[in-house]
Amino acid sequence: MPSEEHYVLRGGKEGYDRLMVLARERWSDTRNLLQRAGLVPGMRCLDLGCDGGAVSLEIARLVAPGGTVTGIDMDGTSLELARRAAIEHGLPNVEFRKFNANDWNEPETYDVIYTRFLLHHLGEPVDTLRRMWAGVRPGGVVVVEDADFGGWCSDPPNDGFDFFVRTYAEALRKSGGDPNTGRSLRRYFLQGGIPEPELALVQPVHTGGEGKKLAWSTLEGSREAILSNGVASREELDAALESLRLFTEDPRTLISGPRIFQLWARR
Ligand SMILES: C[S@@+](CC[C@H](N)C(=O)[O-])C[C@H]1O[C@@H](n2cnc3c(N)ncnc32)[C@H](O)[C@@H]1O
Repeated sequence: MPSEEHYVLRGGKEGYDRLMVLARERWSDTRNLLQRAGLVPGMRCLDLGCDGGAVSLEIARLVAPGGTVTGIDMDGTSLELARRAAIEHGLPNVEFRKFNANDWNEPETYDVIYTRFLLHHLGEPVDTLRRMWAGVRPGGVVVVEDADFGGWCSDPPNDGFDFFVRTYAEALRKSGGDPNTGRSLRRYFLQGGIPEPELALVQPVHTGGEGKKLAWSTLEGSREAILSNGVASREELDAALESLRLFTEDPRTLISGPRIFQLWARR
């Protein structure tokens, strides 16, 4: 991991809870993607940057009987919660390992290597993709979903929401990531020596429900990164959070999530 690269979102239990909302919101699109990519029972799978394992556990169900899943993340608290969830859900075919994705390297080991919303945090996503490609066996598939934050929008305009889109992107850049990674993924695949991938684009939109709160909770979860990177003052951040909270609660308003690029390629 380059020394200037730091994870921009608060992890641990709070981060886990936020990502469980994201997981519930995203599951139907992710399941469609995994099925189109050819996920079937018996496969050996890896979920890179798995956080609390929400997708890893779903994959464990889809590849049973006979298939296994390994989830890798650098957040030990989330991995512990993931291990507990696996026991609660009675899924013995999933394991979780603490590892920095930048150091991970397991050539020709898996049938499916999946990653979601990890690459936009990494300073060298092409390098990670190259190792993902090397990590699948011949016939195996690399599957990636990542965001393009240029797609966020609200109606009507809201100062708190605009603050979120601007400052989160800036904090991410200062932490070594790229908020527009989604649109670059095809190019990154090709640069990483992966042949032309299949492509799809999905985008969530909300007028209510827990998914609408993700903009607010993401801004709240990136508070430390926004302040420590000098992106905004505490007063500006608190005012934006309050404005965005009220906007989110108003049933007349609309918030779209980021565009999400989905790519997969078979080796
Ligand atoms: C936005 S979350 C996505 C989690 C999960 N893939 C999902 O879609 O719900 C990004 C995850 O990547 C992990 N992460 C960030 N940088 C990492 C790195 N260098 N190595 C391993 N995990 C990393 C974080 O701890 C976090 O759990």
